[in-house]
Amino acid sequence: MHRRDFLRLTLVLGGAVAVSPLVTPLLDYMGYYYGELKAISPKYLVANNTQGLEGFPKYRVANIKQLQSSSCPVYFFAYPLVDEPCFLVDFSKLNGMNNVEFKNPYANQFRINTNFKDIVGVGPKNSICAFSAVCVHLGCQLPAQALVPSPNDPGLNPSTSVLHCPCHGSMYQLDQGGVVVGGPAPRPLPMVLLEYDETTGDIYAVGTNAPYFSEAVPRRRPVDNLIYDPRYSYSVPSNPACVRVS
Ligand code: FES
Repeated sequence: MHRRDFLRLTLVLGGAVAVSPLVTPLLDYMGYYYGELKAISPKYLVANNTQGLEGFPKYRVANIKQLQSSSCPVYFFAYPLVDEPCFLVDFSKLNGMNNVEFKNPYANQFRINTNFKDIVGVGPKNSICAFSAVCVHLGCQLPAQALVPSPNDPGLNPSTSVLHCPCHGSMYQLDQGGVVVGGPAPRPLPMVLLEYDETTGDIYAVGTNAPYFSEAVPRRRPVDNLIYDPRYSYSVPSNPACVRVS
């Protein structure tokens, strides 16, 4: 072998050795990402999701009587996937707020229907909103059922309406639309959009204010959707779920 060829071969082999630690994680990542996408699709609550906003299903979450029969300010449900935890929060029970209205923290940021500016509470007191129970930092489930005495404790602090993630300390202020007030979360906690039927008392989920996995927002890149992480398993707590932690 000529000296030049030998040098070329050495360079090629050296380069291969240098990048080899990256190859497996990269392939794993791509496999996880696209493989899981297929696995998630059948989990839609409603196969024909033409009723909701931009591809989201319209789903009956609860009747107002179910919420009124309990002193717990949160009520868990799954949306839009059958194992994706979300929760209603009745601010009139949490911190005495009625006629809840706040700026949509995601207004005009994504391709789905986020152009609306404000989010208002539903129900007889206009006090009920809904949030994802999955932390947008790295996907831990948020323990909104744990009512805690301080916003520094993991759980939901009623007086500040701060929901604190137990994993790395992200803190979301629910009565400001889930904005981040502490920790590493890169963006607000997504909200589930609600409709209230005054005649029946039924509360419906009809979409979200942020990218979830959906037909409208394909998961092309991780930043498109870090709400539901298929590597974790989630559970939807039974209602009423509240635990007061002292
Ligand atoms: S997953 Fe919630 S703070 Fe990291």
